[in-house]
Amino acid sequence: MENHTIDTSQDLGQLQLDLLKKRKSPVAFSEQEVTKDQLEQIFEAARWAASCFNEQPWRFVVAIKDQGDHYKKVLNGINPHNQNWAQNAPILMLTFAKKTFDMNGKSNMHSWHDVGLAVGNMSAQATAMGLHLHQMAGIVRENILNDFDIPEDYDIVSGIALGYKLDIEDVPEELKPRETKERTRKPFNEFIFDQDWGESSF
Ligand SMILES: Cc1cc2nc3c(=O)[nH]c(=O)nc-3n(C[C@H](O)[C@H](O)[C@H](O)COP(=O)(O)O)c2cc1C
Repeated sequence: MENHTIDTSQDLGQLQLDLLKKRKSPVAFSEQEVTKDQLEQIFEAARWAASCFNEQPWRFVVAIKDQGDHYKKVLNGINPHNQNWAQNAPILMLTFAKKTFDMNGKSNMHSWHDVGLAVGNMSAQATAMGLHLHQMAGIVRENILNDFDIPEDYDIVSGIALGYKLDIEDVPEELKPRETKERTRKPFNEFIFDQDWGESSF
């Protein structure tokens, strides 16, 4: 691989943007193992996310594919539509948000937001490591509550599949349309307002 010499913050800024744009949510995962060290690097990125009052309200249940029953339990918490492709991911996770602040027991209305920040860090870190995350709102809360002993004070937020994405020539035909679909984004002027609401010079 070509070595980059980073000598200005502008270089780093552009590299970071390139990386963020490379992040995507694949539906076709390779069987290639994700090591415990790699997983820990990804969680280290989560650990350093900002959070309201530094409460770090994120929690994760993680399963590695060769763990058998535990992986099956996590998979059972994911809805069948997502299971179709997620069952090939070497790592599955469920995310949770602590509903109240540790410091005073009051409701923490920012806890889901903070889980999102942690997962955002994780997905950027994964991309830098050649890995990809696919987050899922499509989970089965009832199964998760039945299969795991989740304390009252936690909301179930999402599922995550993590692994290496398959090279496009190896993607099964039925998944190819999704895997090759163009990724689009709203233009700046739809979400950045620098005058009145809805008015933008961006
Ligand atoms: C909170 C959240 C929930 C999502 N839920 C699902 C889901 O249940 N199933 C799915 O296939 N993709 C899900 N996605 C992935 C999005 O569809 C995907 O991020 C979006 O289409 C943009 O594509 P990209 O991530 O490849 O840029 C979810 C993403 C997020 C952040």
